[in-house]
Amino acid sequence: MSTASSVTSPADPMPVAPPDPVLPSGFRWGTATAAAQIEGAAETDGRGPSIWDIFATEPGRIRGGHTPAVACDHYHRSADDVRDLAQLGIDEYRFSISWSRVLPEGRGTVNQRGMDFYSRLVDELLTAGIRPVPTLYHWDLPQALQSAGGWLERSTSDALADYAAIMVDALGDRVHQWWTLNEMNVHTLYGHALTDHAPALGMGLDCMPVAHNLLRAHGLAVHAIRAAGDHHEVGVVQQHFPVHPASDSPEDVEAADLFRILTNWTFADPVLAGRYPDDFVAELVATSAGLTAGQLEDDLGVMSEPLDHYGVNYYEPTVIEAPKPGKDYSGILEVDFPADMPFSPVRIEGVERTDFDWPVVPSGLTEILRTLHERYPGLPPVTITENGCSYDDGPGPDGAVHDVRRIDYLRAHLTAVSEAIAAGVDVRGYYVWSAMDNFEWAAGYGERFGLVHVDFDTLQRTRKNSWYWYRDLIDRVRHSR
Ligand code: BGC
Repeated sequence: MSTASSVTSPADPMPVAPPDPVLPSGFRWGTATAAAQIEGAAETDGRGPSIWDIFATEPGRIRGGHTPAVACDHYHRSADDVRDLAQLGIDEYRFSISWSRVLPEGRGTVNQRGMDFYSRLVDELLTAGIRPVPTLYHWDLPQALQSAGGWLERSTSDALADYAAIMVDALGDRVHQWWTLNEMNVHTLYGHALTDHAPALGMGLDCMPVAHNLLRAHGLAVHAIRAAGDHHEVGVVQQHFPVHPASDSPEDVEAADLFRILTNWTFADPVLAGRYPDDFVAELVATSAGLTAGQLEDDLGVMSEPLDHYGVNYYEPTVIEAPKPGKDYSGILEVDFPADMPFSPVRIEGVERTDFDWPVVPSGLTEILRTLHERYPGLPPVTITENGCSYDDGPGPDGAVHDVRRIDYLRAHLTAVSEAIAAGVDVRGYYVWSAMDNFEWAAGYGERFGLVHVDFDTLQRTRKNSWYWYRDLIDRVRHSR
């Protein structure tokens, strides 16, 4: 006689957990943040203002009128935050250094109290068994340097190199891996070609000297770090994404090609191949920056110093078409392009979207990694230095944050990474953006990318379910064969 309890009804199956991404047991796990997005303490201990502090005071710039003045108050809570990272079990933590906290004027006298904060943070991380991997520049130029011309000035690259040397000198006994700059393409496009980010110059293609000076700053920083000894490893963090034409028409293909060149290859080719992607871009840079052919060549030599790591940030692919007269292209991407640009974005249909309205396309990550691998024969080992999603889940009645969609997103993107590895791309690590909810630039505190929920009234932190999922995944993969 059978008993009811031994029968599993086919109509009521046990939920089957999706399989883990197949990753090597030595894979490096991490999370990432940036100074302006989490630290707060904007005027504490002698810090000077950055361009984001000034931008935030201008009406209408940031959603909700928010400012980075307090953010997550990580400056005062780093010990607790690092304890949380330790319990998460990550290998590496990517944070950025606020240049104007260390050098309030951008150059000159070091603000020792600001430097002490980073020194303490590094010690806390090392004590917790986490490798500190700082980014020197994550978009927060000291306002003093902006007032002197910012990234339109060649001398700003030299100032960054001096700052890099100061940081290696101060922390290099304990920090052995560095990221130079974050997403030069987004900083150039959003902050200098357009007005959506600080310093909101809105120069269109006239901003090309900014791209060149950022790339030169990267190269000079690599040089400064290398000068401190062979044991230092260095890389750059770039945002990359596949760009597809909306149709096979020659106009759309041409528009997509130009957009791809300007957003991806203008920033990667100088670093990885010592050239600008084509004559059009080289000419544009040389003319707008007032460089002779010889100077351009010399600068490309500086930009292409060999790297130990290549950081790839991935969020979404882009579909581009040649602008159609009268068509409304607003609201398709996070930023709108001026009507006279020769390319326009097309909304990607038929895919899920995050609460930031960004399309969820994990295969785009595999695709861009394979493209990089094919385009650059000497591509250094890759780390996914940012990947993540904004979902507005907060603590429910049970106190837990059931952010199922983030878990699905991360699992799918890590699977995409594993597929790239299987296809031969040397990907060594992955950092979730972000360790905690934070100041999401022009979107203020309205977009939540964190594994940890932050209540921006009380600054109370609550681990989301994705935090527990990520911890357990790290543990399982680390102990797999
Ligand atoms: C930036 C981060 C940002 C994230 C989500 C990246 O472009 O490096 O600072 O928060 O995307 O928008």
